[in-house]
Amino acid sequence: MTDKLIPLRIAGVGYALPEKVITNDDLTQLYETSDEWIYSRTGIKERRVVSGEENAIDLGFTASKNAIEKSGIDPEDIDLILAASSAPPDLYPAIACHIHERLGIKKPVPAFDITAACSGLIYGLSIAKAYIASGMYKNILIVATDNNSRLLDWTDRSTSILFGDGAGAMVVTQAEDGIDDVISIDIKADGNYGHLIELSFDGKNCPLVEQYEPKPQGIRMNGRGVYTFVAKILPQYVEDLLANANVKAEDIDYLIPHQANLRIIRAIQERLGYSDDKVVTNIKYYGNTSAASIPIALAEGVEKGNVKLGTTAVLCGFGAGMTWGGAIVRLREGIC
Ligand code: ACO
Repeated sequence: MTDKLIPLRIAGVGYALPEKVITNDDLTQLYETSDEWIYSRTGIKERRVVSGEENAIDLGFTASKNAIEKSGIDPEDIDLILAASSAPPDLYPAIACHIHERLGIKKPVPAFDITAACSGLIYGLSIAKAYIASGMYKNILIVATDNNSRLLDWTDRSTSILFGDGAGAMVVTQAEDGIDDVISIDIKADGNYGHLIELSFDGKNCPLVEQYEPKPQGIRMNGRGVYTFVAKILPQYVEDLLANANVKAEDIDYLIPHQANLRIIRAIQERLGYSDDKVVTNIKYYGNTSAASIPIALAEGVEKGNVKLGTTAVLCGFGAGMTWGGAIVRLREGIC
């Protein structure tokens, strides 16, 4: 521990996606829908899904390995693992513990999961920032991974069109040059809107007591309710995040938002007055990959040449809870 707050450097970002592609046309085999309906309302054309034994741990491991390689940090020097997941394959062991094992890290380190749904990466970054600032941990892996496709009700055409599987990871460390890559960060939740998106996990009461009525399984969402809630709060929230940090929207190079619905992304873009080339979107190809969507958009954006490094970005996300959050970050050369 130290009296001085230690700045944070984003050292590496990675991602992983399953290979199997399910197009909007493929979904017409499951229920009455059309590519036109889905694309016009969401911006989604296709999504990736896990197949067979593949799951969020595999994706999270690949994304983590990728981010660690980019960071140049020895996995043995990682001293905290945070995993953001809302649709994990196991409730325990935590995904973070699985990742610790899969990375072959020999020494025991703290590892735990964060349930903040699609805001998970920003929640993870916020926790990591506090730990780095305090000097408690030096090198932190944040991995966001979900296999949403296993937890969807594939008879529900209003939710199963939206989600895809994927993982993103970020390695953060102490910034030795004194420049903090997290210029500003904020997280929020309002449990009063929790009913808008639910994924219940039901067991059974003890056989010696009265049983309870299990809830329907699978992700259940009031799509219109979510849309209305988010469209109302998020554009203003992002504007306030910038204003509170004394940063002008025009001084930020990119908006890298959670990829849930293209219409919501456009509403934030409009509020910030950004042209399309400043807004990173890949929802068309991957749908909503929950907490992974921001790091996937960032790392893939760099790979495709749509995001240049040595720049700044505003990240923002929202998800079940309802949770939401935003961060203004520096994207240094070499992070992905
Ligand atoms: N194909 C064809 N018709 C459909 C489909 C479909 N896939 N899904 C619904 N419909 C029909 C409905 O049955 C309804 O028909 P009706 O009028 O005859 O009853 C009609 O289309 C309109 O349904 P709505 O649900 O009201 O459609 P809406 O225009 O609201 O669009 C959507 C639905 C796309 C889900 C939209 O509400 C949305 O994007 N909401 C935001 C969701 C979101 O961002 N979720 C993020 C979750 S983040 C996390 O943490 C999990």
